[in-house]
Amino acid sequence: MSVDKYSVTFTINDRVVTLDAPARMSLAEALRNEIGLTGTHIGCEQGVCGACTVLLDGEPVRSCLLFMVQLEGSSITSIEGLAQDGRQHPVQAAFRECHALQCGFCTPGMVLTIAAFLKRNPSVTPQTVREAISGNLCMCTGYQNIVRAALRAAETMQGTTPQ
Ligand code: FES
Ligand code: FES
Repeated sequence: MSVDKYSVTFTINDRVVTLDAPARMSLAEALRNEIGLTGTHIGCEQGVCGACTVLLDGEPVRSCLLFMVQLEGSSITSIEGLAQDGRQHPVQAAFRECHALQCGFCTPGMVLTIAAFLKRNPSVTPQTVREAISGNLCMCTGYQNIVRAALRAAETMQGTTPQ
């Protein structure tokens, strides 16, 4: 039986892509299997863990819950698009510096969630960082170094001292 496909044109990391997507193809699947951007991880596939987080028009979303057919004309940023001109985003640099990578499975989603959060919130505290990442589960190690990295990135991005 043939599967109906729908042409969808969207921007991924500043690149315009047109894809013929089956109606039930998720953004996470498309990124990993059709476009080859495997930095977006798939964990629970039901909107709980946050591992699949990408930015949709600058806001964090769960790519396992979005169908490609919803995304005509949208702009997506995956972890591969966060560095600019060969320079790591301050959140990426802070993750490396503060040893927040651990096993790395939750890292792409964490980094994108924190990058979007810091863009909206110039001054942060450990508590507000913990609230911001409450939808991103780290299942292997813990949150101490992730919170430290977010505070360090805030310092770099905003020139403020972490509280
Ligand atoms: Fe999307 Fe877990 S894989 S929220
Ligand atoms: Fe391993 Fe978070 S670093 S799941």
